[in-house]
Amino acid sequence: MTLADLERRQVLSLGEVEAAADAAALEQLRIKYLGRHGEVPAIIKGMKDVPQNERPEFGKSVQAWRAALEAAMVARAGAFAGEAKSDAEAFDCTLPGRWPQPGAKHPVSRVIEETAAIFARLGFIVADGPDIETRFNNFTALNTPAHHPSMDASDTLWLNDDLLLRTQTSPVQIRMMTRHMPPVRIITPGRTYRRDTTDATHSANFHQIEGLYVDTRPVSLADLKSTLAYYASAMMGAKAGVRFRPHFFPFTEPSVEVDFSCHVCGGKGCRVCKMSGWIEIAGAGMVDPRVYEHVNSARGDRAYDPDSVYGYAFGFGVERIAMIKYGIPDIRWLYENDTRFLSQLA
Ligand code: DAH
Repeated sequence: MTLADLERRQVLSLGEVEAAADAAALEQLRIKYLGRHGEVPAIIKGMKDVPQNERPEFGKSVQAWRAALEAAMVARAGAFAGEAKSDAEAFDCTLPGRWPQPGAKHPVSRVIEETAAIFARLGFIVADGPDIETRFNNFTALNTPAHHPSMDASDTLWLNDDLLLRTQTSPVQIRMMTRHMPPVRIITPGRTYRRDTTDATHSANFHQIEGLYVDTRPVSLADLKSTLAYYASAMMGAKAGVRFRPHFFPFTEPSVEVDFSCHVCGGKGCRVCKMSGWIEIAGAGMVDPRVYEHVNSARGDRAYDPDSVYGYAFGFGVERIAMIKYGIPDIRWLYENDTRFLSQLA
């Protein structure tokens, strides 16, 4: 036994005395530690094995431990004396009970896992990319010109001239295509960052799920729509439908914004969909030939020749889906770690 062991025993034993529930438990502890065959006498007996030079200090420590134990036991016994009520008297049935508090999966994780499972049925695998990205992957290869506002320091968290906290999960498209031959069929969930001021619908850190399907066989906008329609019904309920609205993204052509029909009113119009019957969910489109050219130049071959590959991409916010699906009015609730909120989703 070393001095450190001794210290540990001391802390442990004093904790036990402190926690003793009644006089009987205290007596058990007295026997365990100070009784004739207790730990303290046993350690004193074993002191001949302690190296000579350590013995004086060791001895002092054991004596101090014994004194501390005795004092703690006297104090604990005193506490019991004042509580000499019967169990029936001591039990206050008006106090709220303590129930077990099982955890629940976080809504953001839940949406990511459900989405991955739904797309797995369609042959999509999950790909991953880093939160810190290069200018090339996050912007240049995605055909986003230098004058685009999303590249501005007021919108993007730059680490230096070339590295940034990714503003979208789209750069994983570039990573996948530069490393893999077509066909590529992935979804990629992850964190994204923007220089946003937090309010009920904005957060500087949020999550997106990106999808990419590129093949050497024709892939069309109709495939994109049927895929997202399948996702909508699997995620939001069998009746959920999708609609496409023309839009612009630098890395898709044509580009669309994707709405899901409102799962609350079924499209009739209600508070959730702001009376429109539709809820804006995703950006999407056919991969722009310029993206393939950037990928080819990074690869040094023409595996993604725009004349012979076809592909679509889409991207949406995870928090948004979670908020819509579970009726959460404020994005901040998702990050406050308040069990009163999280336990409702168990
Ligand atoms: N990255 C876009 C954004 O953050 C969303 C997006 C739009 C992703 C269109 C796509 C896409 O893959 O094709 O706003």
